[in-house]
Amino acid sequence: MKRTIITGEDMDLAFRSGKTEFHISPRDIVTSVAKERAEKHGITLSMGSGSSTAGPSGVGFDATAVFQKSARASSADVSPPYDMGYWRKQFPLLSKYIHVANCSQSPQSTYTRDAFEEYMISWNEMGMDWERWVEEVELTKAEFAKIINADPSEIAMGTSVSGMTAAIASALPRHTARQKVVYTEAEFPTVGHVWKAHEKYGLKTGFIPVTNNMIDPAEYDRYVDEDTMLTSICDVYYYNGFRQKLSTIIPKIHDKGSLVYVDAYQGLGTHPLDVKALDVDLLASGNLKYLMGVPGIAFLYVKKEIAEYLEPAYTGWFGRKDPFAFDIHNVDYADGARRFDTGTPPIPTAYISRAGMKVINEVGVDNIHQWTNVLSQHCIDGALARGLDVVSPTDIRIKAPSTAIRVPGNSHQVEAELRKRNIIGSARADVVRIAPHFFTTTNDIDIVLDAFVDILKKL
Ligand SMILES: Cc1ncc(COP(=O)(O)O)c(C=O)c1O
Repeated sequence: MKRTIITGEDMDLAFRSGKTEFHISPRDIVTSVAKERAEKHGITLSMGSGSSTAGPSGVGFDATAVFQKSARASSADVSPPYDMGYWRKQFPLLSKYIHVANCSQSPQSTYTRDAFEEYMISWNEMGMDWERWVEEVELTKAEFAKIINADPSEIAMGTSVSGMTAAIASALPRHTARQKVVYTEAEFPTVGHVWKAHEKYGLKTGFIPVTNNMIDPAEYDRYVDEDTMLTSICDVYYYNGFRQKLSTIIPKIHDKGSLVYVDAYQGLGTHPLDVKALDVDLLASGNLKYLMGVPGIAFLYVKKEIAEYLEPAYTGWFGRKDPFAFDIHNVDYADGARRFDTGTPPIPTAYISRAGMKVINEVGVDNIHQWTNVLSQHCIDGALARGLDVVSPTDIRIKAPSTAIRVPGNSHQVEAELRKRNIIGSARADVVRIAPHFFTTTNDIDIVLDAFVDILKKL
């Protein structure tokens, strides 16, 4: 029997069609909003023997449609526009586990494993092969550039977002009237730590508050001012998947004359992020979350037009015009983002990360976005219907794939209990995050949510 999610919209529709009774089947999930609306409209929810009268069934996948509507109508019937069976086989771990910790670490694929082996073989057989390895670095930058619609010359490579942020901090001019960096409370703490630590060099800082686990775009009008040199914002809040509307916020920041730096780590690869269309100045991301890679590599986008004004003191020989000039007396900055390269690049992780990002580009960010929206809606509705405490936005237009469920006591204990049930979730503070990816099914989400209910009952 098919499982349907009954939403508030279904109740509104039933009301407008003059219905006073709505048939549901025992397997249906009725959201709390649907229950409220049914009461408001005087509609009785009755257990029928047949299928429910909710929304259209058998909704096919429309790759160009706005997905929210079909997701709400009947997510169990929708399938992604790529070969799910093929892709699931590329992640051996999925034969044993449901992996919904992609906000922390995505699983290993056959592609990333092969890429790592390619490096190991090259090292073993060649001793060293710097020409090929340096080429791999350039190809990896290009693969990252493709995801954000940048030019490869606008990408620098490092090893962590923390390092990239520190490099930006060290590059900001010190003798200008503006000496303030404003950052949000939703930044991953590491980013805030870097800004705060630079107060010892005279940098002033201020932050934009989070209210109800979100940031009101109007706060940018208030907190970014004429003293602000740079505003440091995240695309997605790591805690609960709240996604900021960059197209609204960035013009506000630029209107005040401030540069904008985006930490895109928590969602990159799961929704389109076009640095040109959004007019982003600087953007960083690591690679191990939705980009399907590993720790030890990170990228920084530096807009062409501003690169020459930035001279990072956090630097190294690969940031020179000619790293092989071995001139200890001069610090000449390379053109473009390359001036933000530092020491010997992380070659093994470059191999792995290029393979992971190739998977993302192959499946397609638009396709991933549409499918993870289906999963997001399914997860929110299913969690609410089961009475779980959802601390993520319920509007998927302002949400990345991650759904945070607040749990009593120690969230890491819940994560451990999930693992005993072959589910890999991700605990943070008082929540456990369910963070699916393009290979996740709606059935996976149902199993995970049922496991939450079971665990929370027992704890
Ligand atoms: C949004 C965001 N930024 C930064 C980081 C940490 O980056 P790194 O460890 O590469 O400095 C994380 C990590 O989990 C994150 O979610």
